[in-house]
Amino acid sequence: MRTSRVKLRFSDLIVEFVDRDRALRQIEELGERGTYPVYIIYGPEGCGKTALLRQAKQILEEEFSYSVIYVSPISREREEILSYSLDIKDVVHEVLSAIPDSYARIADVILRIISLVIQRFTRPRIAVLMDDVFQAIGLNKVELYVKALLNLIEYPPKEYEKIAILVTSSEGITREKIGRHRWAHMYMMWNMCKEGFRELYDLLPYQKPEFEHVWRLAGGNPWILQELYRSGWDANKVVSYLIAYKDLHTFIADLSNEEKEILISSLEDSDTLMKHIRDAKRLIYKLTELNLIARVWDRVEYLWFDFPPPERDSELGIGRYYAWQTPLHREAVRRTLEQLGLT
Ligand SMILES: Nc1ncnc2c1ncn2[C@@H]1O[C@H](COP(=O)(O)OP(=O)(O)OP(=O)(O)O)[C@@H](O)[C@H]1O
Ligand SMILES: [Mg+2]
Repeated sequence: MRTSRVKLRFSDLIVEFVDRDRALRQIEELGERGTYPVYIIYGPEGCGKTALLRQAKQILEEEFSYSVIYVSPISREREEILSYSLDIKDVVHEVLSAIPDSYARIADVILRIISLVIQRFTRPRIAVLMDDVFQAIGLNKVELYVKALLNLIEYPPKEYEKIAILVTSSEGITREKIGRHRWAHMYMMWNMCKEGFRELYDLLPYQKPEFEHVWRLAGGNPWILQELYRSGWDANKVVSYLIAYKDLHTFIADLSNEEKEILISSLEDSDTLMKHIRDAKRLIYKLTELNLIARVWDRVEYLWFDFPPPERDSELGIGRYYAWQTPLHREAVRRTLEQLGLT
């Protein structure tokens, strides 16, 4: 890759984007081709989707001369909600000042920017990178929105050269909800592979537990790594946080006895869920919706950004069909069951 690596915030540190070489090559390929229709990337919470999208912005700008619009509606800072390539600065300012309360109507803003860029630039290359829009505006609205976007691409006011639209989603049930629509190609992304994760681990200062131990807790998930680092490497704190913020007590208390039993055996082997698929449908849906597990049936590489998870790794909770998002996600469930006196 010719592009420099972006700097990313990691707790109180700034780190450089590491690893993910295959994903970066895939971004380069779509930079050459453009995307059609829209590419959606989803994967475990904290696996590095936002980081990849930020690096993608840099690649598309530097290597392929795209004018990039980057939207992250759930960010807290305004500069992070919307950022863009310098060459379209004037258009963006014009649109922002013409639409009242523009940050609340960010979807309209983007459509207007694209339309103006197509009209004013000669055969432009445009990339729209949208981070977690599903979470921000709800699936039904996203669908209408993406259709409007596709409409603009299919019937543009003037010619453009290339367009690339990449959307990330951290909602577990993305595939269930939008898998069947013609407007999207779905890709999955998994946690980092061991070597890549080690590179990130090596960047962390101060005394830290040995790598193998951290790998067995985080399973390559950079957000879990960040939470471990932030908590002074206290896995109990991270697990307590997961239990509280996912409200696992309520989730488990609401299950039937049969579902509880299946859940308990899935701690040992996540493919138990597949074995009991008839009785576990609701359980699987909820585990997916809570971002505790992911469906990982299709290991074929062309369906994945970067690499799919390994075929099986029972220590990390990865089965042939279903996988715990990280070992600590599984531990959070195990501990809640224990606290409720169910194991
Ligand atoms: N390849 C990488 N190199 C360096 N740091 C990374 C990389 N991937 C992720 N990180 C860091 O790990 C943390 C979690 O990553 P990130 O926020 O991108 O995950 P995410 O999948 O977008 O999470 P969410 O599901 O919450 O949206 C962030 O601090 C991010 O900067
Ligand atoms: Mg993110």
